[in-house]
Amino acid sequence: MGRTQVRCHGDETRFEVLANFVYEHYGKSVKYIADVAGGQGMLAKLLNKKYNYECEVIDPRDEGVKGVERRVSEYTPDMASYYDLIIGLHPDEATRPVVESAFERPIIVVPCCNFWDKSRKLGSKAIAEDIALFYEKHGIAYKMETLPMKYPNVVVYTFGKK
Ligand SMILES: C[S@@+](CC[C@H](N)C(=O)[O-])C[C@H]1O[C@@H](n2cnc3c(N)ncnc32)[C@H](O)[C@@H]1O
Repeated sequence: MGRTQVRCHGDETRFEVLANFVYEHYGKSVKYIADVAGGQGMLAKLLNKKYNYECEVIDPRDEGVKGVERRVSEYTPDMASYYDLIIGLHPDEATRPVVESAFERPIIVVPCCNFWDKSRKLGSKAIAEDIALFYEKHGIAYKMETLPMKYPNVVVYTFGKK
């Protein structure tokens, strides 16, 4: 962990909040979802069981909740085309590959720790604003909102090329 790195703890309601967000914003327009850096797989489990999606975790950690498919791997943007939607909830090192996947597929990212630009000391809101600027520059349609949960709680989500 470098000097600019700050560890953060997520709100325990974040999986419920984000699963509900996915359903409200993307509904039945998506089916196959990647929960990138999904850790234990709690978000994927909710998306599958409560909302009937087909979501799997992509994470180098090889342990997680039962009943959730996982690819034990680091995520790279070339995996995006296999899915309808890419999600990074507090995705640490996978932040940039999730963000860059927006050239291929819609993405949802809730940044947490500063794995976006280690040359600057950025909190998660500043990271989200930087990601928004990145999308402005590259002509990707996006929105940024604050989720109803404790910080880090800023979500940036995309809809493809403008
Ligand atoms: C802060 S945890 C978040 C886990 C989960 N999304 C949550 O909200 O509880 C970050 C996760 O990123 C995973 N990770 C780190 N580098 C990754 C990479 N390159 N690709 C995919 N996952 C990665 C770690 O193994 C860890 O499970």
